[in-house]
Amino acid sequence: MLRKFDGVLPTVASSSFIDESAVVIGDVVIGEDSSVWPLTAIRGDVNIIRIGNATNIQDGSVLHGSHASEFNLKGAELHIGDQVTVGHKVLLHGCRIGNQCLIGMGSIVMDNAIVEDQVMIGSGSLVTPGKVLESGYMYIGSPARKARELTDREKASLVYTANYYVSLKNRY
Ligand SMILES: CC(C)(COP(=O)(O)OP(=O)(O)OC[C@H]1O[C@@H](n2cnc3c(N)ncnc32)[C@H](O)[C@@H]1OP(=O)(O)O)[C@@H](O)C(=O)NCCC(=O)NCCS
Repeated sequence: MLRKFDGVLPTVASSSFIDESAVVIGDVVIGEDSSVWPLTAIRGDVNIIRIGNATNIQDGSVLHGSHASEFNLKGAELHIGDQVTVGHKVLLHGCRIGNQCLIGMGSIVMDNAIVEDQVMIGSGSLVTPGKVLESGYMYIGSPARKARELTDREKASLVYTANYYVSLKNRY
């Protein structure tokens, strides 16, 4: 369901799929071939949310930003790149996720964290505010720590999973 906030309706490319039980509100832009799965909430009311192409946001995830205030002058926008897999029940808040990343099931990524391209975050991880996760590495744990370099096979799997979700949403 797409809902207006302050007169702004989300912009979603016609090739993208939003499950009818998901809620997308306000200043949200979603690119081509992306998918938003059941019971996800994407709330672009207090700051903008931008999602790229061929990215999947799986069931029960929550996406939001932070508003600007005297305590947080700029607030925090939420940006997610292309070919990103956001696993089931992930919370992404006011952070930046690069391209071809996997955010493991049940993870939390907090304000102003930067997840560079081709990063895997293990399920149940907590990425604390302002952390920078370096391209090509796996991070796991709470708080998330660098675990090891990704193998070429794992990097290939990031693209595979994103493409798989493009074909899955095409069947809906
Ligand atoms: C992290 C992950 C990729 C496994 O990586 P791996 O290097 O193959 O790790 P292993 O399974 O060999 O485990 C190595 C160690 O890490 C631990 N570990 C594995 N996954 C972990 C996680 N998510 N959090 C904390 N510790 C974890 C294991 O218990 C093991 O610890 P030990 O050495 O003390 O026994 C995997 O567990 C994971 O979290 N994948 C994400 C899947 C997902 O959410 N997909 C999206 C939905 S489609």
